[in-house]
Amino acid sequence: MRDKEEQTFIIMKPDAIQRSLFGEILSRFERKGLKIIGVKMVKISDPLLEEHYSHLADKPFFKTLKNYMKSSPVVLMVLAGTNAISATRLIVGPTKGYEADAGSIRGDFSLSAQSNLVHASDSPETAKKEIKRFFKDEELFNYEKPDYKFVYSEKFF
Ligand code: TYD
Repeated sequence: MRDKEEQTFIIMKPDAIQRSLFGEILSRFERKGLKIIGVKMVKISDPLLEEHYSHLADKPFFKTLKNYMKSSPVVLMVLAGTNAISATRLIVGPTKGYEADAGSIRGDFSLSAQSNLVHASDSPETAKKEIKRFFKDEELFNYEKPDYKFVYSEKFF
């Protein structure tokens, strides 16, 4: 890993898959220069969902959140890049789609607090835990891409 390079965990949630927005959303991450180092489609099990959203277990919307998250397969990804965690949160936008700025994924495509298309880790500690929760070491790939020379130009020129 290069200096300041981070890895972040993404879920393309059921509405991203069902509304055929997977490609649109993925292209926003790719165009930013983030590198996909892990990707897989799964149906998230109850125990994993309960662990992932344990900070919301006492909320009135917890049950509907779980039902929504189980309503379709989802795509899990790990993205890498300089400051990847905060950069990805900016691209995704704040939780409630109706409050998110135009230009962000949630701002452009979501009117909901629940169906907000994407999960993205919110801190280095969370990202580390979430990647470990959903990916095995052998499902993550360390490889070079030629565009890195331009994405991280200060390191090369
Ligand atoms: P949270 O971790 O607070 O937000 P974020 O996804 O932006 O990191 O909440 C997790 C998910 O819980 C959120 O993406 C959608 C759902 N949720 C609701 O359904 N209603 C709500 O009022 C909130 C705050 C979250």
